[in-house]
Amino acid sequence: MTAAAFNRVTPQLVERLRELVGADCVHIDDESLLLHACDETEDLVFRPEVVVVPRTAEGVAHTMRLATEYRVPVTPRGAGTGLSGGALPVHGGLVLSTKNLNRIIEIDRENLMAVVEPGVITQVFQDAVEAQGLFYPVDPASRGSCFLGGNLAECSGGPRAVKYGVTKDFVTGIEAVLPNGNRVRHGGKLLKNVTGYNLTQLIVGSEGTLAVVTKIYFRLLPLPRHRTMLLVPFNSLEEPARAVPAIMHAGVVPSVLEFMERDAVEITERHLGKSFPHADAAAHLMIELDGNDEGVIQREAERVAEIVLEHGATDVLVADTDAKMGELWSMRRAFGAAVKSESIYKEEDTVVPRNQLVALLQGVKEIAARHGLRTVCYGHAGDGNLHVNILKMDMTEERWNSALDPAIREIFALTVKLGGLISGEHGIGYVQKDYMPLAYSREEIALMRALKKAFDPLGILNPGKMLPDEDQ
Ligand code: LAC
Ligand code: ZN
Repeated sequence: MTAAAFNRVTPQLVERLRELVGADCVHIDDESLLLHACDETEDLVFRPEVVVVPRTAEGVAHTMRLATEYRVPVTPRGAGTGLSGGALPVHGGLVLSTKNLNRIIEIDRENLMAVVEPGVITQVFQDAVEAQGLFYPVDPASRGSCFLGGNLAECSGGPRAVKYGVTKDFVTGIEAVLPNGNRVRHGGKLLKNVTGYNLTQLIVGSEGTLAVVTKIYFRLLPLPRHRTMLLVPFNSLEEPARAVPAIMHAGVVPSVLEFMERDAVEITERHLGKSFPHADAAAHLMIELDGNDEGVIQREAERVAEIVLEHGATDVLVADTDAKMGELWSMRRAFGAAVKSESIYKEEDTVVPRNQLVALLQGVKEIAARHGLRTVCYGHAGDGNLHVNILKMDMTEERWNSALDPAIREIFALTVKLGGLISGEHGIGYVQKDYMPLAYSREEIALMRALKKAFDPLGILNPGKMLPDEDQ
């Protein structure tokens, strides 16, 4: 369905939404519309025509039924922390916020499972399960504000994926509302389930384009009792990237294996007014080890230290108290915001097999230099997931606009050549959809379109996202 085929929101639709979903759940005032016009993606602004904030799954179903009847686009939204424009109402219409669906329904200690609504803040959930001695490891940098439903929609990863996996690895079931307003469920508190197609995993990572999730089943783990962190400076970008597969090869699986180049550290120091040890090093690895046996962690840390020193590390700093680790984490989690405050920028979320990280880094720097662009790279080295931030700085609009797209295409082509893809954890959304043909063939994209049509024949749910426009 093209934009022209959508209808505008009418006063009558607003009235019916108020009747069916609740008068206090429907907002058309300027402040609400503006508040739901942006997410964390660069500086993009798209105003919705109405914001609906249902309190129940039934309210979500009413909203979708009315949207179908009136042929109005619906953009589902969690906390709006996304980095690919997934929550932007690019065709106007309705924003459906999950903010009021924020109950932790159950933490089931016997089955190591939890059942939640999508509007629960990730850190609130992490804390609630920790209070019961349990662990939900997925830990996006925005955990203090992002919602579990948004994490599910984007299949968020974060720094612990190297050992524990990403959101999809913890979702065992869902309840959801289809674009036509009908409710469906799949999976449950089940570690195994091969009963039919895996609708749960189709919906995880589908960026709110297939269905609106109203209930999530998560599997949990026992909380590891101990952890320690190593901060390791290097004099080049390549040495830490080479150390990463060597650490894994030694049979140690760190819970975190992060890479950060000097500029990311320096920009964040300025942004926070704090200093980082060895901030002048060309790059750092930040490595965390966790488990239940302190002695084992100690020995693994020693082994990792040996390996990084063999790979050119100039020092190995140990942060073994919660306070020291907390300080380093607060710096690390601020990288995204710091880059944003430094300059107009465009962020790419490349992912390659982890032993290709060296080639990816060298290639990114070479491509950027050739196009006269500054890049700041950091990311989840253990997952081969590198965030490439391209900064405009004081470039003219004209030069920026002409250099950016060709440089991105070259970076993505390199990523694919190395066996990678164009997004590891931020999603395709609005800002990367035109690059999908670099990642997939016509036939593969056609198959994705067919899936989308099966769920959403009218194309009203989060239109203008993920798949390239029909003519590409
Ligand atoms: C991070 C976000 C940007 O790794 O994914 O900080
Ligand atoms: Zn990340």
